[in-house]
Amino acid sequence: MCEAVFPKDFTWGVATSAYQIEGAWNKYGKGESIWDRFSHTPGKVMNGETGDMACDHYRRYAEDVALMKKLGVKAYRFSVSWPRVLPKGKGVVNKAGLDFYKRLVDELLQAEIEPWICLHHWDLPQALQNEGGWEIPTSVQYFADYAELLAHELGDKIKRWIIFNEPRCIAWLGYLTGIHAPGIKDLQLAVKVSHYLMLAQGKAIQTLRDSDRNLNLGTVVDLNAMHPFSDSRKDEEATDRHDQLWNRWFVDPLFKGAYPPLAEEIGLKHTKDDMELIKQPLDFLGVNYYTRAIMSYDDSVPLTRAKGIQKKTPTTEMGWEIYPNGLREVLMRFRTEYGNPLLYVTENGAAFEDNVTRSGEVQDDDRIAYLRDHIASAYRALRDGVNLKGYFVWTLMDNFEWAEGYSKRFGLVHTDRRTMKRTPKKSFYWYKDTMANNGIAF
Ligand code: GCO
Repeated sequence: MCEAVFPKDFTWGVATSAYQIEGAWNKYGKGESIWDRFSHTPGKVMNGETGDMACDHYRRYAEDVALMKKLGVKAYRFSVSWPRVLPKGKGVVNKAGLDFYKRLVDELLQAEIEPWICLHHWDLPQALQNEGGWEIPTSVQYFADYAELLAHELGDKIKRWIIFNEPRCIAWLGYLTGIHAPGIKDLQLAVKVSHYLMLAQGKAIQTLRDSDRNLNLGTVVDLNAMHPFSDSRKDEEATDRHDQLWNRWFVDPLFKGAYPPLAEEIGLKHTKDDMELIKQPLDFLGVNYYTRAIMSYDDSVPLTRAKGIQKKTPTTEMGWEIYPNGLREVLMRFRTEYGNPLLYVTENGAAFEDNVTRSGEVQDDDRIAYLRDHIASAYRALRDGVNLKGYFVWTLMDNFEWAEGYSKRFGLVHTDRRTMKRTPKKSFYWYKDTMANNGIAF
């Protein structure tokens, strides 16, 4: 039996995002987002489900904060819905929307839970999308203005600021595979969007720094562990190319001031000034980790010439391989390749079909095993010199899982879709003990 006891100041938390939990999609002055539009388009989300109601968190936020207090987290990572605050993405402010986040933050502070605010978790105002959204450079300034507004309104109460959640998903899933809003499949456009996102991120960081507050600034990327299917040169090269597209594209510019070679190959246009703006110093980086990709050479795949191979290993309900060591691998890359920045695991978790007993208890032992093994892996990274300062479970409660609708449950708390009743699962109590012990035995 091994023990993984984390440093005293290690931050334990849970994460959520606005569209996935809030509901009240067209109430209290909120404008439409691209996810509202997308989910209301037939055929886009499994079973035609939407975030219209989600977890009704907009009205039940106090109950949810009370749940977190019971759980014993030190920190809560949530996102702000841009169109709730600025219904058209710019211009007129919706005071009711701002007040909601102020109430939420006050409630958290009162419960002694540190708020970690994320400015953008994919729900771009539809009004901006109509103008071209992330496809046009004007959005860079709109985003910076929105960041400034939030810093002005909430900067005295919130120290931890996350600019983006997973720009990779916005660009590649929204514009390349088209499985996320706005549902476009166009490689050249996706590449352009990726660059404007990076510029918007840089500009927002700069703006928040200039706001002259003592804000702690970071952003969140998602990385896969990446292995070749065989040790053939072709598989190795394919893996490297996929790694450039998937992992390095959104990380290299931040730390190295340059895109990986693949970006040059496809003709991404940028200037020296662009790259300087993108390479803003960060106080921390958030890393989301779920699984590993095993890649083999496939000539028919454009750009990367790499295709994913499914191994016959256990997977979560998402079909994602359970590969705990990958978390250590991914974190170690920051030590060896990116100068050992200060890191937080800002998401890690798993969807499993919940086993609800007759008396209403949720026996989610598979989730407990997943979390335990990944926390152990994070601990090994820490022991090996990674500058890891915290860990957040994805997610507090079962919620809207994007294109999968409500079919996939990631929560520590079970959400009854009909009554909205929240029931802590067995993993909730397990995580509570883990945090109370500041670690695990494995
Ligand atoms: C993401 C998002 C979350 C997801 C979670 C599970 O990583 O895709 O940050 O919103 O719900 O990752 O897929």
